[in-house]
Amino acid sequence: MRKVLVLFAHPKFEHSEANLALVLAISNLENVEVRDLYELYPEFNISIQAEQEALFEADVIIWQHPFYWYSCPPLMKQWIDIVLEFGWAYGPGGVYLKNKYILNAITSGGTAETYGPDGKNRFTLRELLQPFEQTAKLCHMNYLPVFHVGGTHQISAEKLKSSADKYRDLVIQLRDSVLLDEASLQHFYSKND
Ligand SMILES: Cc1cc2nc3c(=O)[nH]c(=O)nc-3n(C[C@H](O)[C@H](O)[C@H](O)COP(=O)(O)O)c2cc1C
Repeated sequence: MRKVLVLFAHPKFEHSEANLALVLAISNLENVEVRDLYELYPEFNISIQAEQEALFEADVIIWQHPFYWYSCPPLMKQWIDIVLEFGWAYGPGGVYLKNKYILNAITSGGTAETYGPDGKNRFTLRELLQPFEQTAKLCHMNYLPVFHVGGTHQISAEKLKSSADKYRDLVIQLRDSVLLDEASLQHFYSKND
């Protein structure tokens, strides 16, 4: 069984609906750790050592966050800036993340249809997430396709429930080493959509 580390960042979690549903769906799963970064570091004073230890233990890492201006909330960016150190995550001797798996799990106000060449957001999520993908690559990790819950402003309770159930299934299957390549993950996402 693999160890899954979910790095979660939401600056207003008390007002969240979508991320709350996702986090609740994966809480209490064996070998799955959820680190709520805004709860741990409300003043942005991230412990590099604690975060690197959590990363070192993990096999699969998930950056879970609402999409904010086509990117992540600021504490997650700060986490990337200071935790992924030169000589540890990349550069000479920077091999501690090598061969781990990583993906984004994102909620967005824009629907899935708005993310593409014909939509108002013009680019696919994969394109917009390229800085994350390249960060993973530089750190010798395997970047997997994004899990996405779109249209959060109008989402029905039923759809949110099915998205949360799917997220739980995803995390379980990543933990149990079933879905560790791009093609099988894309197939999993496309089922029942
Ligand atoms: C500062 C800010 C920036 C946002 N930027 C985007 C964006 O770039 N694209 C988008 O589709 N939605 C955007 N949204 C909408 C959020 O992604 C959406 O409210 C969130 O995913 C809902 O999740 P929650 O219920 O957990 O808060 C933004 C919201 C805020 C507050």
